[in-house]
Amino acid sequence: MIVLRPEIHRPRWESVLEDAEQAPTILIVDNIDLNRRLLRAMLKTSSYRILDAKRPSAALAILEREKVDLVVVDLVMAEMSGPDFCRILKGDRKTQLIPILMTTSVQGAENEVAGIESGADEFLIKPLQPTVVRTRVRAMLRNKALIDSLEEAETILFALAQAVEHRDKYTGMHCDRLAAYSIALGEALGLARQDQLALYRGGYLHDIGKISIPDVILFKRGLLTDEEWQTMRLHTIRGEEICRPMKTLAPVLPIIRSHHERWDGTGYPDGLRGEEIPILARILQVADIYDALTTARPYKPAFSHEHAIEIMLEEARRGWRDPELVLLFAEVSQTVPQASGASWPGAAPMQQSLENMRRQVSK
Ligand SMILES: [Fe+2]
Repeated sequence: MIVLRPEIHRPRWESVLEDAEQAPTILIVDNIDLNRRLLRAMLKTSSYRILDAKRPSAALAILEREKVDLVVVDLVMAEMSGPDFCRILKGDRKTQLIPILMTTSVQGAENEVAGIESGADEFLIKPLQPTVVRTRVRAMLRNKALIDSLEEAETILFALAQAVEHRDKYTGMHCDRLAAYSIALGEALGLARQDQLALYRGGYLHDIGKISIPDVILFKRGLLTDEEWQTMRLHTIRGEEICRPMKTLAPVLPIIRSHHERWDGTGYPDGLRGEEIPILARILQVADIYDALTTARPYKPAFSHEHAIEIMLEEARRGWRDPELVLLFAEVSQTVPQASGASWPGAAPMQQSLENMRRQVSK
C-alpha cells in the first residue's frame, strides 16, 4: 500500500493563488530615457510588468488599453506637467484609483505641494534611493490590491442583490427608484455625503436577505401563514449577516436590519419605536412604501402620486410612520426623477460596475 506523505501532498494554496494572479503592472512616464532605464533597473528585483512612456500622450494611450496598477511620473515633462497629467488621471473614473508616485529633481516644498494637490499619492525627490523606491512601490501596490479586492467583493454583492430583485418581475427597477427617492429625502434633510452613499447602497442591498427565503414563501400568492411570516421577516437579519463581513458596508447595516420597523413599535425584527429606529432605515422605508404604492403589483394597480401620499399620510396618522419624514417626502417626491438614481454623482460609476458584472455573468 502506498502511504502519501502529508507534507508532500498538502496543496500549497497560497503559492497557487500567487501564481494565478498577474504580476502588477507599473507605468513609468518620464521624458528622459536614462531616468526610465534607472527606474526599470531599481524595480527589476521584483516580478513587476513594467511599461514606459516618453510622453504623457503615449502614457494615456497605454492607460486606455492596459490595466495599470501604479504610475510613476516625473514632475517636469515637455508636453504637459506632471501635476496636469495627475489631474487627468484622477479626474477620469477609469483611472482615478490608480496610485501615482511623482518624482522630481527640482528642489522645493512648493513642488511637493503642487504634486500632492494634483492627486499624486507619493512624492520622491531625485536622486532616487533604490531601497526607498522599492519600499514605496510595494506599499502602494499593496493598497491598490486591497482597493481592487474590495471593489470586486462589493460589486459581487450588488449584483447578487440585483439578481434577488430581478427574480420578481413586478419589482424591476425597484432598487434604482428606491436609491433615487432615498437620496432626494437625504439631501432635503441635509445628510452628510457618507449617509447619502449609505442610502444609495441600501436601496440595492436592503432586501438581499431574501436570497435565504424559500420561493414558495417569497412568491406565494395569497396570504402567508403565521409561520411563513416568521420566515419572511428573517430577511432583515439574514441580510445584515450577509453584508456584515464587508467593513465598507457598515453604514448600510442599520438600513438592512431596520427597514421594516414601525414608528409605533409594531414592526420587526426588534420592535424599535420612534427615533430608536435609525434615521437611514426610516428614510428608506418611506421611499420603499411610496414605490410599492406607485407601481403595479399582482394584487393592486399603480396608484397616482397624490393617492400614494394620501395613504402614507394616513399610515403616519395611525402611528406606523415617522410623520415629519412622510410630510417632507410628500414635498420632495414631486421633483424626483421617476426611475433613475442618476441624480446622485456616485450613481453613474455604481451603475457602470453593475453593468460590467451583468455582462461578465451573462458571458
Ligand atoms: Fe424588506
